[in-house]
Amino acid sequence: MLTCAERTPGTPGRVTGRLDGTTAIVTGASSGIGNATARALAAEGAAVALFARRRDKLEDLARELGSSASVHEVDVSDADAVRAAVDEAAAEHGGVDVLVNNAGYGSMDLARDADLGEWQKMVDVNLHGVLSTTHAALGHLAQAAQGARGIADVVTVSSVAGRTVTGPGSNVYAATKHAVGAFSEALRQELAEQHGRVELVEPGLVDTELTNTGDDNKPDASQASELGLLHADDIADAVVWMVTRPARAAVNEVLVRPTEQKG
Ligand SMILES: NC(=O)c1ccc[n+]([C@@H]2O[C@H](COP(=O)([O-])OP(=O)(O)OC[C@H]3O[C@@H](n4cnc5c(N)ncnc54)[C@H](OP(=O)(O)O)[C@@H]3O)[C@@H](O)[C@H]2O)c1
Repeated sequence: MLTCAERTPGTPGRVTGRLDGTTAIVTGASSGIGNATARALAAEGAAVALFARRRDKLEDLARELGSSASVHEVDVSDADAVRAAVDEAAAEHGGVDVLVNNAGYGSMDLARDADLGEWQKMVDVNLHGVLSTTHAALGHLAQAAQGARGIADVVTVSSVAGRTVTGPGSNVYAATKHAVGAFSEALRQELAEQHGRVELVEPGLVDTELTNTGDDNKPDASQASELGLLHADDIADAVVWMVTRPARAAVNEVLVRPTEQKG
C-alpha cells in the first residue's frame, strides 16, 4: 500500500490545494452537509471517498468532482459493509488521511408518542455508524499519520443537541449526539500522542433535507422556517478549517449556530 507521501500530488496546472495528496472519506455525502463537505475538501485537493445509500446522488457528485472521487454505496448501520467500504476506499486511493463521520438521521417525537423503530434508527446511524466507521478507519488513519502530512483527522458532525438538550422531543437524537461527543473525547485522548486529531463540529439549524422536508418530526422543523438558517457550506467551511490547521494545532470542537438561533 502506498503511503501518504508517495501518493500523487494535485492535478497539474491547478493551484496547489492545502489537502493535495490526501484522501478523505465523507459519510452521508449524498446530500446536505456531507455533500458540501465533500465538495469543499475536493476543492482543497483531497481525493474524496463518498459514502451513503443513494448511489445515484453519489455518482452525480463524483461526476462533478472528477477522477479523484470514488463512490461507495453503503449503509453505515451495517458494520461489515462499512469495514468493506473503508478498506475498498483505502485500497483505491492509497490510504485514508481524513474521516468525516457525517451521516445522520433525526426524528423528534415526544417519548410517549415515539416509534421505537425510529429510536433504533437514530442509534444505528448516529451512534453505531460513527463507531463502526471510525473503528474500520483507525488502522488506515494511523498509517497516514506516519506519512508526510504528519497527522490524520477524525471529524464527527454532532449537533448543538450534542452539547445541550435542545427541548422536548430531542430525546434520542440528543442522546446519540451526546454519545458521539463522549466517544470523540475518549478517542482524542487515545490518539493524542499518535498524531491523530479528533474533531467535533456542532451545527445549529442548517438548511438541508433533515430540516426542510416539511416533516414536523424532523429536528426542529417548526423553527427552521422562522430562522435564517445556516447553509451546508457554513459547516463544510468549518470542517476544512479544522483539517487544514498545522499538525501541531487540534481544533477539537466547533459550535456553529445561525446568528438568530437562541437554543
Ligand atoms: N440540518 C441540521 O440542522 C443539522 C443540525 C445539527 C446537526 N446535523 C447533523 O448533520 C449531519 C448531516 O445531516 P444533514 O443536515 O446534511 O441532513 P441530510 O441532508 O438529511 O443528510 C443526511 C446524510 O446522511 C446519510 N445517511 C442517513 N442514513 C444513512 C445510513 N443508514 N447509511 C449511510 N448514510 C446515511 C444520507 O444519505 P442516504 O440517504 O443516501 O444514505 C445523507 O447523505 C447529521 O449527522 C445531522 O445529525 C444537522
